[in-house]
Amino acid sequence: MLGSLGKIQNPLLRIITAASTSFAMATLIAAVAIGLNNPKDKSANQVGVYASLLAFIAGAGIGLVVRDNSQSSVTSTKSQSSSQDTAQNTWKDWRDFKIVKKEPESKEITSFYFQPVNGGEFADFKPGQFLTIKLDIPEQKRPIIRTYSLSDYPQPTDYYRLSIKRESSPKGLDVPPGVASNFMHDRISEGSIIPCKPPSGKFYIDVDSSVPAVLISNGVGITPMISMAKASARLNPERHIWFVHGARNGEYHACREEVNAITESYPNLHIHYRYSRPRPEDEGQYHSQGYANKQLLEDTIIPEIRETHNGSANAVYFLCGSPAFMESLQEGLEELNVPDDNVFTESFGGGKTKGKSQPKSQEQQTVTSSEVVFADSNKTASWTPDNGTLLEFAEANGLDPDYSCRQGVCQTCMCQLQEGEVEYIESPASEPDEGSVLICISKPKTDKVVLDL
Ligand SMILES: Cc1cc2nc3c(=O)[nH]c(=O)nc-3n(C[C@H](O)[C@H](O)[C@H](O)COP(=O)(O)OP(=O)(O)OC[C@H]3O[C@@H](n4cnc5c(N)ncnc54)[C@H](O)[C@@H]3O)c2cc1C
Ligand code: FES
Repeated sequence: MLGSLGKIQNPLLRIITAASTSFAMATLIAAVAIGLNNPKDKSANQVGVYASLLAFIAGAGIGLVVRDNSQSSVTSTKSQSSSQDTAQNTWKDWRDFKIVKKEPESKEITSFYFQPVNGGEFADFKPGQFLTIKLDIPEQKRPIIRTYSLSDYPQPTDYYRLSIKRESSPKGLDVPPGVASNFMHDRISEGSIIPCKPPSGKFYIDVDSSVPAVLISNGVGITPMISMAKASARLNPERHIWFVHGARNGEYHACREEVNAITESYPNLHIHYRYSRPRPEDEGQYHSQGYANKQLLEDTIIPEIRETHNGSANAVYFLCGSPAFMESLQEGLEELNVPDDNVFTESFGGGKTKGKSQPKSQEQQTVTSSEVVFADSNKTASWTPDNGTLLEFAEANGLDPDYSCRQGVCQTCMCQLQEGEVEYIESPASEPDEGSVLICISKPKTDKVVLDL
């Protein structure tokens, strides 16, 4: 009964409920006692009335105490969550979320708003991080796992938003269009349930820093940048941020008005939109024509940084976009003598990136063959460098391990290394769990490797 009482949030209602229940119980007991004994003395009735009143007061006291207990437990949870860096409100593995809103943002990109099915707290996230989702697609023989950047920064967090580009088949290739993105666009609607892992990823902006930041994206690479710009606007409005975005034209430019609106409360956000093929109706909505490239940084953005920072061009750069865009900008920044440590990159797939979040391993391959044991599948096979990564090798041997990004970002392919050592071709974007490895970017480093697969 105390448990049920504690669930009543309104304190007055809780006290009245407890007092009335005690009063009613005491009155009932007194009435039964008087009825059974049938006392002649009037004072017996008085004792019954006093007992009921006493019970009423005691009940009110219980209501008050229960309130105090419930409040103190909420307080201790909150203080722990802030001191333990969100450990208290992060769930493990998969948790069901419901789509509460679906909204088109451009010709190709649609936003999906997620809320937990059973209520409860959201895990906090850093602006720039991503969510991993699992889709049960009837035609697919196993669940499809994909990662998507969180594209908004609501405070407090009362939804997660993912903005997903519909991936069509590459021109000239007779292959199916993107599995997950088309499923999201065509068959996911408000009310659909999607399991998600907690937010993660190392591509995020340090909102407390005062160093000017340049967020450069093209296409759907805009998604983590919106979250970063909004977080900076709210948490560190003194800092100057350049939001540089390249799009084909207004039709393909997602969330333009939303980003423009940030400047209303955050004048230190400097926006530059560059359209490669603008339409007449885009006039006045973009700042220059061409691609978001080194030239734009050199001619426009860096001079603006100098102007607002007493001649200093020191800045950190965040890049996210198509493989060609990333490659050209990374080379461009190197030519502009921007230190590697000031460049942060997120690749959505399909290309190689270099930079702080995905530095290349300096180590050389040390074995020319290795005995690989897939312990759970009871299979052993001989690996040579031609067999590629351990994920590729597992697939070639008939195994079906989970994966998503295949580039060391999402940790979907993480598995336990029971024996031996592996070597990373590229450093993982975030450290795998103790004793685990990311098989999509690793190869054997020892003569024998035993994996929990
Ligand atoms: C950290 C991170 C964050 C991300 N954030 C976002 C985001 O915010 N928004 C977003 O839209 N995406 C994001 N992505 C990309 C996303 O995870 C998916 O990779 C993307 O949606 C494509 O998945 P898909 O299942 O639709 O396509 P897939 O089925 O994986 O196909 C990808 C492409 O390959 C083509 N293809 C299919 N078969 C072949 C073949 N045999 N040969 C050659 N090509 C083939 C398809 O036509 C398609 O164009 C992110 C990725 C990462 C790693
Ligand atoms: S599949 Fe994403 S880290 Fe390996």
